Amino acid sequence: MCLYLCLFFLFFELSTCDPIPAPWPEQFHSVMFVNRSGDLHQTDLWYDWPNGRNFNINQYQLGILKYDIEWNNGTSFIYTLDPFNHTCQLLHFEVGILRPNWLLGANYLGQQYVDNFLCNVWEKVEFIWYYEDVLTRTPVKWIFYDGMTFHVMTFEVGAVLDDAHWQAPLYCFSDPDPELHQTHTTRNNSLVLVDSELAVLSAFRRTLMSHMR
Ligand SMILES: *[C@@H]1O[C@H](CO)[C@@H](O)[C@H](O)[C@H]1NC(C)=O
Ligand SMILES: *[C@@H]1O[C@H](CO)[C@@H](O)[C@H](O)[C@H]1NC(C)=O
Ligand SMILES: *[C@@H]1O[C@H](CO)[C@@H](O)[C@H](O)[C@H]1NC(C)=O
Ligand SMILES: *[C@@H]1O[C@H](CO)[C@@H](O)[C@H](O)[C@H]1NC(C)=O
Repeated sequence: MCLYLCLFFLFFELSTCDPIPAPWPEQFHSVMFVNRSGDLHQTDLWYDWPNGRNFNINQYQLGILKYDIEWNNGTSFIYTLDPFNHTCQLLHFEVGILRPNWLLGANYLGQQYVDNFLCNVWEKVEFIWYYEDVLTRTPVKWIFYDGMTFHVMTFEVGAVLDDAHWQAPLYCFSDPDPELHQTHTTRNNSLVLVDSELAVLSAFRRTLMSHMR
């Protein structure tokens, strides 16, 4: 089919058939090393599209362990557990989690060796540069516009985290003054975030999803 289309287009303009990124599997677990201007952390990502949820567990180098559960209804719980201070931040997005085909429409930039893998490279809405192994079509690396770089260390297709782990702690729900623990929403609904890393990720999500509607 692709070959047919390519031949078809070749008659009209000398375009070649650019590869497109593999959609994300509906469920997977990935361990990633993340470098943000030299600050390192490890992320455990549990992507679970059928259940409408996405979990990032972030271990900052010699620092805190931070949990970030995102639900497809737009609610995110970002919290810490013992032995760290009990904190919980509730965020609300107008959009849900990334869809498996969120890379559709990305611009193909050719091939490049990254992390010693030969990769196809795409760029999407000038927010993300995405590198996928040519042979296995597994993501190898992605870079956000601010330079935050994710290196994919493991990628287990089909892995699912038990329901019990998706429960945010009680103090996410029992705060007498929820405003204290929520980020405020400005009149135009842009989130005012203290945490700049979170700001990058949420801007990414909003921009990307608005491009998909
Ligand atoms: C992290 O990224 C910075 C550039 O932002 C680079 O200088 C540094 O070598 C990187 N560290 C690691 C461990 O990759
Ligand atoms: C979204 O779903 C989660 C998990 O079921 C729930 O805790 C949260 O309250 C929901 N948010 C809204 C705005 O309904
Ligand atoms: C934890 O809470 C204590 C008491 O409020 C505070 O002094 C300390 O700085 C907090 N630690 C972190 C890592 O936020
Ligand atoms: C929304 O408001 C913020 C702060 O008031 C401003 O920085 C931002 O540019 C606004 N965004 C849009 C899309 O209007």
